[in-house]
Amino acid sequence: MQYKQKILVTGSNGQLGSEIKELASSYPAYDFHFFTRAELSLDSSAIIEEIIAEVNPDYLINCAAYTAVDKAETEKEQALQINGTAVGIMAEACAKLGAKFIHISTDYVFDGSIEKPLQEDAPVSPVNYYGESKSAGEQVVMQANAESIIIRTSWVYSFYGKNFVKTMMRLMSEKESINVVGDQWGSPTYAADLAVAIMQIITSGKWVPGIYHFSNEGVITWAQFAGEIASLIQSPCVVNSIPTSSYPTPAKRPLYSVMDKTKIQTCYGIDTKNWKESLAICVRKLTAK
Ligand SMILES: NC(=O)c1ccc[n+]([C@@H]2O[C@H](COP(=O)([O-])OP(=O)(O)OC[C@H]3O[C@@H](n4cnc5c(N)ncnc54)[C@H](OP(=O)(O)O)[C@@H]3O)[C@@H](O)[C@H]2O)c1
Repeated sequence: MQYKQKILVTGSNGQLGSEIKELASSYPAYDFHFFTRAELSLDSSAIIEEIIAEVNPDYLINCAAYTAVDKAETEKEQALQINGTAVGIMAEACAKLGAKFIHISTDYVFDGSIEKPLQEDAPVSPVNYYGESKSAGEQVVMQANAESIIIRTSWVYSFYGKNFVKTMMRLMSEKESINVVGDQWGSPTYAADLAVAIMQIITSGKWVPGIYHFSNEGVITWAQFAGEIASLIQSPCVVNSIPTSSYPTPAKRPLYSVMDKTKIQTCYGIDTKNWKESLAICVRKLTAK
C-alpha cells in the first residue's frame, strides 16, 4: 500500500479546523488526524509533545488558538500560553520530527494606523493583548523552526463556530435595527477559502517557509459587511453605521487593517476570492440548514 502523508490538525472544532475537516474527504491521498481541545489541550506542554510524537505527522496545521480578543486583556497568561508558549512547543516538535508546520496568525499583530495594505515584512505593532500573544507566537515559531509557514488572516467567519455573520443573522431576525461600527476597515475571510488555500500549499509540491497574508478580496467596514448580510437574507432590519467611539470594547480594534496578499498569490498561485462571492456561499449554506 502506498504511504499516505499524515496531516495533524489541532483545534478541530473551531471555524478553520471544522472547514479543514469538511474538506478532508476531497484529499484522499492524505491521512488526516484531527484533535479537538479535549483531545489535545494546548494548556499542557507534555501532552503536545506526546501526541505529536505519537502521530509523527508530515504536516501539522495549528488551528487552535485563544481567540477571545476582549477577554485576552484580562486573561493574559492563558492567552500567551496558548498563542505563544504552546505554539513554540509545536514548532520545535515539528522541527525534531521533520514535520512541516503551518501556523495561523492575525492582522491584529499590526495596529491599524497605516492606511494601505501591509506586506508580510511590515513592522509589527500589536493593537491589543490578543495581537501581542499572536505576535509572540510568530516569534517563537520562527526561532524554534524557521522552516515553518505562518499565515496571517483577518475577520474570519464560517458555517461553523461563533462569528460575526452568524451573530448578525440572529440579531437581524430579532430586531428592527442594529448599530454596527462603520469606521473600522478590513477584509473578511471565509474560513472555507483559507482551508482550501492551506491545502493548496500542502499539495503544491513546494515548501517556501515564511509569513503569508490571506483574506478575501475587498476592503469594507463592519457596517458594510452587516449591510450585505442583511441584503443576502433579505432582512428588513436597518443597519445603522456608528463610530468606534460609540461601541467601546475592552480590547482596542484596528481602524484600518488590510493585508497585501501578493506573496501567497504569486508564490502558491492562490486565488483570493471577492468577499461578496464567498459571503454569499456561506450565507446560502447557513440559511439552507
Ligand atoms: N476568528 C477570527 O476572526 C480570526 C481573525 C484572525 C486570525 N484568526 C486566527 O485564525 C486561527 C483559527 O481561528 P478560528 O476563527 O478558527 O478560531 P476558533 O473558531 O475560536 O477556534 C479555535 C479553536 O481552538 C481551540 N482551543 C482554544 N483553547 C485551546 C486550548 N487551550 N487547547 C486546545 N485547543 C484550544 C478551541 O476549542 P473550543 O472549540 O473547545 O473552544 C477552538 O476549537 C487562529 O489562529 C486565530 O487566532 C482568527
